[in-house]
Amino acid sequence: MYDFKAEYQRLQTRFERFMQEYLEELKTTPAVLGESMAYSLQNGGKRIRPVLMLATAEAFGVEESRVLPFALALEMIHTYSLVHDDLPAMDNDDFRRGKPSNHKVFGEGNAVLAGDALLNTAFGLCLKECFKGQDEVLASSILCECAGIDGMIAGQSADLLFEKNLENAKEKDLLYIQENKTGKLILAAVAVPSVLSGNEYYYQLREYAVTLGRLFQITDDILDVTGDFTALGKTIGKDEREDKLTSIRFYSLDGARVQADVCADRCNAVLDGVKKDLSFLRDFVAMVRNRSK
Ligand code: IPE
Ligand code: IPE
Ligand code: MG
Ligand code: MG
Ligand code: MG
Repeated sequence: MYDFKAEYQRLQTRFERFMQEYLEELKTTPAVLGESMAYSLQNGGKRIRPVLMLATAEAFGVEESRVLPFALALEMIHTYSLVHDDLPAMDNDDFRRGKPSNHKVFGEGNAVLAGDALLNTAFGLCLKECFKGQDEVLASSILCECAGIDGMIAGQSADLLFEKNLENAKEKDLLYIQENKTGKLILAAVAVPSVLSGNEYYYQLREYAVTLGRLFQITDDILDVTGDFTALGKTIGKDEREDKLTSIRFYSLDGARVQADVCADRCNAVLDGVKKDLSFLRDFVAMVRNRSK
């Protein structure tokens, strides 16, 4: 019998094993570079992006071995974004995944370099996959676009632009931040296996992922107010302290919950249009909506 938690655990374990094997081969000079990369990568994230990628691949008939390198590349890019996001020059956060942030352990310079190295290594992984065929080239190019100046980095830039500058913020600005800083890496998790499966349902999967990404950032904003440090592993209440443009600022806490429900319903409605067993992708939406970490 299908059990969401057991499935999630199975896919997460599969990913962790692949990542561990990769890290065992990773040798750097000086050693501290590899140590700081591994520190943040192994620091107990939820792995929602690689799990979503593996699950989408399975649902659309793509072999696991074809997506695992992309899943690792995506988690490396996500991890680098967190290492840089926590720096004093950005959100100035001392904790991540329940442990001191990378710069608190290795210093700011090493944290900048660990982030750079994770990004570079991620694209090295993708380039190797490109020898396998055109679909891999397209998948790599989508991942690159989602991570870059039309994706996560643009969203982070807009996030900084509106920090302590809320008077002029419009709803479209909030949506731009959510869609890019968070939504695009979640889109990549679904778009890569979609491309590798021949893209029969690309438009539905794209809409699902974009909306799931927005839901994920709304619940992140909600948890910044209502969450618990032990469960979440990061500082609570920092968005208000740093005067960030968040869903809470724009809609209030109750309004943000309504927006989250609307997104969750939309994700499920989109999946109704795909004639496949997508129970895991549906339950994934509920998990994101109801998460406490
Ligand atoms: C945190 O992402 C940053 C956001 C995009 C909101 P996650 O909540 O997925 O962080 P980890 O990987 O589980 O630590
Ligand atoms: C960060 O958003 C999204 C990234 C691209 C890293 P937040 O700044 O809200 O993420 P947390 O709350 O620090 O995890
Ligand atoms: Mg931030
Ligand atoms: Mg932050
Ligand atoms: Mg946050």
